Amino acid sequence: MAKLENKVALITGAAAGLGEGIATVYAKYGAKLCLVDISEEVEKTAERLRKEYNAEIITFVGDVSDKEQMKNAVAQTVEKFGEINILCCNAGICRLAPFEEMSDEILDLHINVNIKGVWYTCQAAIPYMLKNGGGSIVIASSVTGDMVADAGEAAYAMSKAALVGLTKCLAVEYADRNIRVNCTQLGYARTPMVEKMALESNPEDPESVIKDIARAVPMKRLAKPTEVGELFAFLGSDESSYITGSQFVIDGGSTLPETMSMGTK
Ligand SMILES: NC(=O)c1ccc[n+]([C@@H]2O[C@H](COP(=O)([O-])OP(=O)(O)OC[C@H]3O[C@@H](n4cnc5c(N)ncnc54)[C@H](O)[C@@H]3O)[C@@H](O)[C@H]2O)c1
Repeated sequence: MAKLENKVALITGAAAGLGEGIATVYAKYGAKLCLVDISEEVEKTAERLRKEYNAEIITFVGDVSDKEQMKNAVAQTVEKFGEINILCCNAGICRLAPFEEMSDEILDLHINVNIKGVWYTCQAAIPYMLKNGGGSIVIASSVTGDMVADAGEAAYAMSKAALVGLTKCLAVEYADRNIRVNCTQLGYARTPMVEKMALESNPEDPESVIKDIARAVPMKRLAKPTEVGELFAFLGSDESSYITGSQFVIDGGSTLPETMSMGTK
């Protein structure tokens, strides 16, 4: 039996980037899916996965920072599939700016999408998970904020570190009611978000930024979205049944080196 067969999963930010990678792996392992995104492109992702994996998928076009919309997304999932077992809180945004120039608008966007978006999605799904007798929540945090950061990422880093705290609290609060909550801490994957950040970092030569990221990673490359999807699938599945409140770094070793020059290599 495929590891996610008979599981119903809702994935946010599933139109592109990592969310699309997570959705692809979930479809491969037989999950029934509700793909949520603010972009209508999410239907194209769903159509591809229906064709490739014969997957049962509904889509919901909505904004994770809108509480009512997330309630609707979860309600429609349960109406279609009867329950919800896994929540992948992946949708997120990143805008770079020097700290002293960072506008309240940018700050609020990170709080609304990256923090409140996860909060509302979890609040909408947990009552149904409790009715089902449990579930698994996987939250996309980052190495940024909790472990490392680059200049200009103050709002993003703060929002991603906040998700580690939310993970810990929800994990302990629901552990005896069989809802597990874990977070992933990714280094870099090449997605539309990272391509945009590279452009903001060096408008003349964004490709050099991507190359420099890869050069600094011990594995010498960025992650593929489906590699991140495999981690989300493990954490969503019963294979991780005794894991809760944990942080999973997936970064090709990028946070390991102490320097770029010291040592025998
Ligand atoms: N790509 C990386 O290297 C990286 C590293 C660490 C963490 N992350 C995290 O992984 C998640 C996905 O990142 P990505 O690189 O795939 O981003 P991306 O920008 O490439 O894709 C994000 C998707 O989320 C959707 N989205 C954006 N705002 C939304 C909203 N308010 N409501 C619903 N959908 C919304 C977008 O339309 C898009 O389809 C984010 O939470 C990000 O912080 C990414």
